[in-house]
Amino acid sequence: MTAHNLQLKQVTGSLGAEISGVKLNDLSNEQFDGICTAFADHSVLVFRNQDLTHDEHVAFARRFGDLEVHPIVNGMDERPEMIKMLKPAGESASFGVGWHTDNSFFAEPSMGSVVYSHVVPPHGGDTLFANQYLAYERLSDGMKRMLDGMGAVHSAKYAYTSDTAEEKYEGKTAITYKRSDSVYDEVVHPVVRTHPNTGRKALYVNPMFTIRFEDMSEEESKPLLDYLFAHCTKPEFCCRVPWDPKMVTMWDNRCVQHYAVDDYVEYERLLYRVTVNGEKPV
Ligand code: SIN
Repeated sequence: MTAHNLQLKQVTGSLGAEISGVKLNDLSNEQFDGICTAFADHSVLVFRNQDLTHDEHVAFARRFGDLEVHPIVNGMDERPEMIKMLKPAGESASFGVGWHTDNSFFAEPSMGSVVYSHVVPPHGGDTLFANQYLAYERLSDGMKRMLDGMGAVHSAKYAYTSDTAEEKYEGKTAITYKRSDSVYDEVVHPVVRTHPNTGRKALYVNPMFTIRFEDMSEEESKPLLDYLFAHCTKPEFCCRVPWDPKMVTMWDNRCVQHYAVDDYVEYERLLYRVTVNGEKPV
């Protein structure tokens, strides 16, 4: 399959495409346009055999928009917009372990994330993705009508204040956090958002950051949220991406959730992530 003459192979029937035959540090405008088209069509893109410096990784991501400096997770000293996602050998993974969309607790949540792998385990450490267009489209008409008018509250207050996170605030772990009042911010986003480029509707609640529906208590919200959290990551909506070294995976947080699988305790894994600013969901 091709998009603007790119070699493209879908990962599953629901989302994801692997693109070959391009070098992300040496793209023609036509190839970049093709990548944008493929990103809109497939929501998760995989590029193997890339040879990127940090500057080239950042430059590629910047073609999609301004880059974020995370308010809680520390970026690299010399490059605050880049998060060094190191999982040392012998430790459990903790970053991104659980379904989420990146930074949905921001008033303007992240558009996309662009991750480049350096060290990967011989097996395990895959990343799962779930298509939230399909999650919305496969709901009943009655459920769609009800959710279409609803808002949900997103906050980092559970994800970033657990007992295990304390060590990260104390700087004792490979990925460290800085204390920030933004942990306790609550923002309301529509439960169903419309993608600004594709015009498609996507379910926009995730178990890591969505804590309740607008104007409802957490207790009242829980049964329906639990249903939606289980629904929106059904296997039929998912793909699984195994990592090779020197591989880039990028995903669209406006219509995709992801989950870093923690099944490689004895091995190191080192990936670098930059995240592209997004817009207020509507
Ligand atoms: C994340 O960005 O949430 C983590 C992705 C991964 O480590 O696979």
